[in-house]
Amino acid sequence: MFVQNDYMQKTFSFEYEEYASIEDLQTEQRYLLEKAKEARQSAYAPYSHFLVGAAVLLESGTVIQGNNQENAAYPSGLCAERVAVFSAMAQFPNDTILRLAIVAGKDDNNANATAPCGACRQAILEYESKQKQPIEILFMGTTGKVLKLKSIRDLLPMAFDAAFL
Ligand code: THU
Repeated sequence: MFVQNDYMQKTFSFEYEEYASIEDLQTEQRYLLEKAKEARQSAYAPYSHFLVGAAVLLESGTVIQGNNQENAAYPSGLCAERVAVFSAMAQFPNDTILRLAIVAGKDDNNANATAPCGACRQAILEYESKQKQPIEILFMGTTGKVLKLKSIRDLLPMAFDAAFL
């Protein structure tokens, strides 16, 4: 026989903005996406040929770029987002990350806007918790469409976060 337990049905949702083109964004956000696009040109991705560029804007105004770095031993490589964010925090540990822009895709295909992978979401969330200030995320592929999120937390519901233990 089944015993019906009480429970609460809960829902997670989040808002994000979608832009048809980079031209529709504010200058500051466009600038960071352009910096990510620039970084993408130097991505080292001889195995996947999937090029990703990232740019981090710090409160001090400093912009740090990163791109994916692949390796013959595949798991030894690193995503563009973590290269950029780790580099920023390694050089400016007391600064605050305001925004992260990501541009991904193969040059010869119509790659849609690509959101950060799960491991990058976890890594970015660490700094959002540390600085107690949301990190705005912007990402686009090669189709032109841009997605904008207020916080990395939106991409990682029920995240493991040592700050809350
Ligand atoms: N990649 C990133 O740089 N960022 C992501 O969020 C997803 C994947 C890289 C890793 C690898 O070099 C290539 O894209 C294909 O997965």
